This record gives sequence, structure tokens and C-alpha cells, in this order.
Amino acid sequence: MLADCDSAFLDALSGVLPPGRVKPAAPHYLQEPRGRWQGQAGAVACPQSTDEVAAILRACHAARVGVVPYGGGTGLVGGQIASGGAVPLVVSLEKMAAIRSLHRRENVLIAEAGAILADVQRAAEDVGRLFPLSLASEGSARIGGLLATNAGGVNVLRYGNARDLVLGLEVVLADGRIWHGLKRLRKDNTGYDLRHLMLGSEGTLGVITAASLRLSPRPARQGTALMVVESPAAALELLALAQGRFGEMISAFELISGMGLAFLAETMPQIRQPFAQVPGWMVLIELGLPDALAPDAALEALFAEAAGAGLVQDGVIASSEAQRLEFWALRESIPEANRKIGAISSHDISLPLSEIAGFIAAAGPALARINRYRINCFGHLGDGNLHYNVFPLPGQSRAAHEAERDAIKTCVHDLVHARGGSVSAEHGIGRLKTGDLLRYGDPVKLAAMRAIKQALDPQGILNPGAVLTDGEMQPE
Ligand code: LAC
Ligand code: ZN
Repeated sequence: MLADCDSAFLDALSGVLPPGRVKPAAPHYLQEPRGRWQGQAGAVACPQSTDEVAAILRACHAARVGVVPYGGGTGLVGGQIASGGAVPLVVSLEKMAAIRSLHRRENVLIAEAGAILADVQRAAEDVGRLFPLSLASEGSARIGGLLATNAGGVNVLRYGNARDLVLGLEVVLADGRIWHGLKRLRKDNTGYDLRHLMLGSEGTLGVITAASLRLSPRPARQGTALMVVESPAAALELLALAQGRFGEMISAFELISGMGLAFLAETMPQIRQPFAQVPGWMVLIELGLPDALAPDAALEALFAEAAGAGLVQDGVIASSEAQRLEFWALRESIPEANRKIGAISSHDISLPLSEIAGFIAAAGPALARINRYRINCFGHLGDGNLHYNVFPLPGQSRAAHEAERDAIKTCVHDLVHARGGSVSAEHGIGRLKTGDLLRYGDPVKLAAMRAIKQALDPQGILNPGAVLTDGEMQPE
């Protein structure tokens, strides 16, 4: 049983920290982007050094007070929000935002957990390098949370998930001991890889305080296009064509549905629609090329070949950086449009590429047996990662939709599971999907996860209720 983060504990905690580190939790620490939970916290602690994080965890461990590690608050599965059980302490890494060092020739940057992703990207750019992790919330998401959730985003196809961009970590364990693992090595074969255990652990095994990040060369030239396709199957054939031509030089390959464009037109009319008529499907494709290759010519040749094969019906190539940014703004505004439409059932799923088209074809009719819905299916097609979002028809009540949410989720996730997919592709388990992890997780894997949790956090103070639980926390 955990203890509440009460005033007696906070007095003791303040005694081991410099003044001003512990404050009442402002409302934003207790909310999350989808507004599905209201969090609770005895206070928020904002440590300014790894030693201070260690002092906080030592105190929490001794008093059995739960800790909710907090980065930018942009997570979509409630990993940053504790709404039930004993009242925890929120530990925000926001004051630990330094770039500690930059090793240009090694292509390595060491950042503290509170560094905002866009700042890390800029620091890399300042020395002519690329930190390729990129997602819509990069202006507020912080490195610690991005790594703890093994975030994905739009460049995974080329550069991998967050875990592929990390060479080393500094982590405070549950009992306050510090693991000094900020190596800058591409090869380090010295036993169990604690780094990969911490990456994606969603704050349940340790608190990441800094990371050694791998940088890449910046592609000299970029080319970005929108292409209209008839179906997801055609989009995948286009991807195969593009990969044949450009190999690893494809940085992004995003699927956008007509429903997504219609939602944008309805809720965010200021966003320019790329085609006179809303197409059924389109893809956003981005190439990052060396100096010797011309992006426009490359994309035109791809389009011509794809058109010849009947795969694309229309297309537009960004003719300026401003237009490129416009394409991306359109893509990245889709989640916002979804929120404005409201009453969403969202699913962050992945499938083997060869199962994508069959899944999409099967899911609509399967859902229609529950009710009639609008479906906005979009996402990182090149990674086999779909955001499969289900909405009530216009005029349907929110309450009625909420009553159907579990049935919708089970319908979608059962289909995904049967096709060898994953019910959490890039957003994590958090508190939203603990029940799904129990339902679909391999029992041997789950037992190993429990043993690891017990070994590293025997009191269960780290992000209680996230990832591993015996049941599912219901949103309010
Ligand atoms: C995106 C978020 C929802 O891809 O992951 O827009
Ligand atoms: Zn996504």
C-alpha cells in the first residue's frame, strides 16, 4: 500500500531540498491533452539537478509515496496523470533542461530530461546536424518523457523510434541510486541493456534525468509531396515503388484519409485544402536527399511511374519551404481537428505492412455491427502505424458514444491482434491501455515484466497504476 503525499511528507521532503523546489500542483499538471482524466497530486517537485531527483526519490521510497514523473504533459495514454489510489508527488523535470554537451564529430548530444524536443533539434541544427525525432508536440514535449514513452513520430521510417536514437542514459532508480550510463558509444556489449529497459518503461522503472542522443547528418535537400491514391493498398504499392527508387532516403510516408481532410475543412477552415475535391486518400511523402539529387525531379519521376501504374491520380510537390510547412501543418493538425469534432474512440495500432489493407477493409464492416460511425484512419503508413479513430455520426450524443467505447476498442484491437499487430504502436500503455496489455500481452512477457518491476521498484512507488496493473483504470 502506498502512502499519501500529505503535509507531513511534504515538510520532510522540503527539508532535504533547497527552498522553492516543492509547490502546490498547478492545474496543468493534473490535465492531459484529451481531457479524459483529472489527476491528483499532493504537490509538484521541480528538481534542478540529478542529485535533487535522487533526494526526492530517496524520500518517496522511505515513506512509500508514489511518484508521477512529468515531462511536457503531451502523452496521450494518461501516463502522466494519476487520478486514483494514494495521492502521489508529481516530479517535473522542467527545470533540468540543459544541453550538457555537444560532440559534433561524434554525432552525439547530451541533453537533460527537461529539454524541449524543438530546442534539442535546434541545438543539433546549429552545428549542422539532425536530431530526427519529430512529432506534432515537439514544441512542448520534453526529452525525458519522449524517451520514457519511446515516442515515434513522423521520421521513424528512416531514423527509428526514440529508443533507436539513444546511446546512453542517466537514470535515478526508485530508491534514489543514480545509474550513470551516459555513454557515447555505438558499441557497448556489456551485459543486460538497462538503457532499453528504461526506454519505453513510462516512468515505472526509473526517472530518466539525462540522455546521450545520437545525431545524424542533415540531408542536403528535401522534397515533399502530396499524392492522391485510391486506397491504402495503392498507398502501400506507392511506398514500395518509392523505396525501390530512393531506399533509405524516404524520411516520411504518411497516410491521410478523406475523412481527416473533411474534419479539417469543418473545424479548421483556415487550413488550405490541397485538392479542389477532397480525395478518398492521400499520402504525404518526404525525401531527404544528398546534394547531387534534385528533389523535384525525383518526386516527378516517382509520380510519373506511379501514375503509369495506376497508383496515383493527382499530386502536388511543395515548391517552397513555406509550402512544405503547409503540408506538414495540414497533416499535424488532424489530431486537433479530431478533438474539435469530439467524442473520439482513438486507437494507436500497428500491423505488418501486408495486413494493413485487409485490416482497414475488415474493420469498417465489423464496427458497423455495433453502430454507424465516421472513421478517420491516418498515420505513419511507412511504419505500419495507423491512428484508427472512430467518431459518432453527427448529431449522436456524446454519452451514447462513450457507452460504446469499450465495444469499439475491443472490436478494433481484436482484429489487430488476430493479424499479428500491436494495440500500442507509439503512444505507450500509460493508464489507458493497462487492460489491453493484460488481454493481449504474452503471459511469459508479462511475468518477466512483473519480475523486473519488483526488482527495480519493490515498493511500487514509480508511476503507480501505469503499464502494469491488475485491472484497468477507467477514465472519469
Ligand atoms: C499523430 C499522433 C496522434 O501521429 O501520434 O498525429
Ligand atoms: Zn502518430
